[in-house]
Amino acid sequence: EQQPPQQPETKTCTVFDGFFFYIYFSGQVLSITPNTQEQVEILKNVSTQFEVALQVYVMLPNADEIIKMQMRNDSGDPRSGSTFYYRYHTLEDIYDWINRTANDYPDKVKAILVGSSYEKRPLYALKLSLNNRPNKKAMWIDCGIHAREWISPAFCLFFVHYLLSFYNVNTEITQILDNMDFYVLPVMNPDGYKYTWTNSRMWRKNRSPQNGTSCIGVDLNRNFDANWCTTGASPDPCNEIYCGPFPESEPESQAVANFLRSHKESIQIYLSIHSYSQMLIIPFSCTTDEAENHSELYEMVKTAADQIRRYYRNTYTYGAGAQIIYLAPGGSDDWAYNLGIKYSFTFELQDRGRYGFLLPPSHIQGACNEALLAVKTIAMKVMEKP
Ligand code: ARG
Ligand code: ZN
Repeated sequence: EQQPPQQPETKTCTVFDGFFFYIYFSGQVLSITPNTQEQVEILKNVSTQFEVALQVYVMLPNADEIIKMQMRNDSGDPRSGSTFYYRYHTLEDIYDWINRTANDYPDKVKAILVGSSYEKRPLYALKLSLNNRPNKKAMWIDCGIHAREWISPAFCLFFVHYLLSFYNVNTEITQILDNMDFYVLPVMNPDGYKYTWTNSRMWRKNRSPQNGTSCIGVDLNRNFDANWCTTGASPDPCNEIYCGPFPESEPESQAVANFLRSHKESIQIYLSIHSYSQMLIIPFSCTTDEAENHSELYEMVKTAADQIRRYYRNTYTYGAGAQIIYLAPGGSDDWAYNLGIKYSFTFELQDRGRYGFLLPPSHIQGACNEALLAVKTIAMKVMEKP
């Protein structure tokens, strides 16, 4: 039985993963658009009061309704056909799904325990390996590093299901799986994800307590060793983009980093799935320097964005993180890139801000298909390399 969610805090100000800031305020989501750099700085530090005149828009007057809608339909039979992938699922259901998938495809799929969360929940990655060819390339995909970005775990589930269903059916998928293994971690931040279902829908960080404060949680995507805790991250444990006490201080980031370190010979592509704002991001986000293979990476995300526009008539922005968003150090993509995984990406899935993190279930299918197209484009390009 799913407990009804407690009301999220009446007043939360959050640095949003894109261009806007928003506030969840008595059942509505408000967005605030800063007009000057000074206002950006004020918003980054703001806690409860606003002393400047800012443009405030009511984005979602019915946010409470939308939150309820997202939690519906979860108790039905998890095997009830393909609609399973077009709903959001509780953490417990996702663990069941991981188990079931590994059991249903014993010769193709293995669940690998890569570590555990602060609250001791297991971090399982699924390894999809369709044959035993030597020296196969591999791709890593993690979802759910940020708790409230529900479309992200939904994509990982959809993606695994899609690959398994279309192997030997669709030529491209067959070709990709014949030549490449996949490691898919559906929920990198299970404690945070759980918390968004039970306590606060807009939670972003993990759930580890911090010394000397009652504030909880580290932003796992500021906790990696890539210009760690410089401009674009915060040393304040109460901040949404808190970098943690030291790089890889968190069991979740450490688990992923350890796994990638020990598999860096085979893993040639790193991909982290976030939402929202529709972006295909390449390194770097932690510095304005260009990556050594920038043009190659840029060409890949450009091609992917062009394809999405052509097939789905939807716009994705693409480029280096520091150019198209803002400086955001300590991210997993930049860290993986510096480790030697030269095809490293972060995708920000739908939407561009209408629903934001509260993307309705009816949009899951579209969002996942777009991202799938981008993954296929990248996988095919990397496979062509010697
Ligand atoms: N919205 C993501 C974040 O703020 C962007 C991630 C891009 N990569 C990065 N290393 N910052 O975490
Ligand atoms: Zn995110």
